[in-house]
Amino acid sequence: MKEQVSDHYGRSRRLIDQIADDLKAAGIDPKKLRAADFEPIDEFHFRGRQATLELLEKLELAPDANVLDIGSGLGGVTRTIAEEASAKVTGIDLTQEFCDAAKTISDWVGLSEKTMFVQGDATKLSFSDGSFDGAVTVHVAMNIPDKLAVYKEAHRVLKPGARFGIYDILQGEGGDVVYPTPWAMDASISYLATPKEMASLLQDAGFKILDEEDSTAESYEWLKARISKPKSGRTMPVTTQILFGDIANDMIQNQLLALDERRLLTYRFICTA
Ligand SMILES: C[S@@+](CC[C@H](N)C(=O)[O-])C[C@H]1O[C@@H](n2cnc3c(N)ncnc32)[C@H](O)[C@@H]1O
Repeated sequence: MKEQVSDHYGRSRRLIDQIADDLKAAGIDPKKLRAADFEPIDEFHFRGRQATLELLEKLELAPDANVLDIGSGLGGVTRTIAEEASAKVTGIDLTQEFCDAAKTISDWVGLSEKTMFVQGDATKLSFSDGSFDGAVTVHVAMNIPDKLAVYKEAHRVLKPGARFGIYDILQGEGGDVVYPTPWAMDASISYLATPKEMASLLQDAGFKILDEEDSTAESYEWLKARISKPKSGRTMPVTTQILFGDIANDMIQNQLLALDERRLLTYRFICTA
């Protein structure tokens, strides 16, 4: 299962080489970009950087906090938190290729001192108990059947009382999701929990839920606006579409419909360990 998930996101050509070549072709020197400029490619979730900033605000981190980003992908969430909260952030992700690309982007934008990326499995973290002052996970659990293991691990590696912010895609009341989607070509690697199931899982893992927010309507409006924006007006010519090629448009249309019909929900939970 984990190999299937990693294969789904992995690719034949080195992703970071492709990103670098596409930037070069557009006359852009990646070393002259700021972390936030990478949003269309490295904040790989509904509502992009704005959603990360909202999540970060709820974490109430002290400066120099040690933070974990579970399922960090290309590292957009990791870098936004590192930069905006002056935190030291570790990203872990199952897909080695994403960890490598995340590290290079951090080098390009001068955040390699504040961010690090480790290949690993969210259900079996390699960190000691009580290592982190805060943790987040953004759009990751939809590929993981054993979500309780993820949340138990998050609870274990957090200091008592530290906050955990979860922003994820959940199963809505509107019916089954139509595939392909960005996280799965078909239902075989897709495991969506309902909001009620998520709340129980988090509590069973030992967390106390402080806040819960349904942002599905905002995600729908964000996606609609994103696809209607002309590509020529963008600072960053490379988007998450680079990961999926021609099928990306079908994925976007399926998600748009699913958000509109509340088959898919976007939800945020804020908890304390
Ligand atoms: C849609 S991306 C989101 C990436 C990032 N959180 C963001 O919002 O930009 C989902 C990520 O979850 C990772 N992932 C899936 N299953 C995982 C697991 N068991 N452990 C760690 N990462 C996992 C994938 O490799 C992928 O990078």
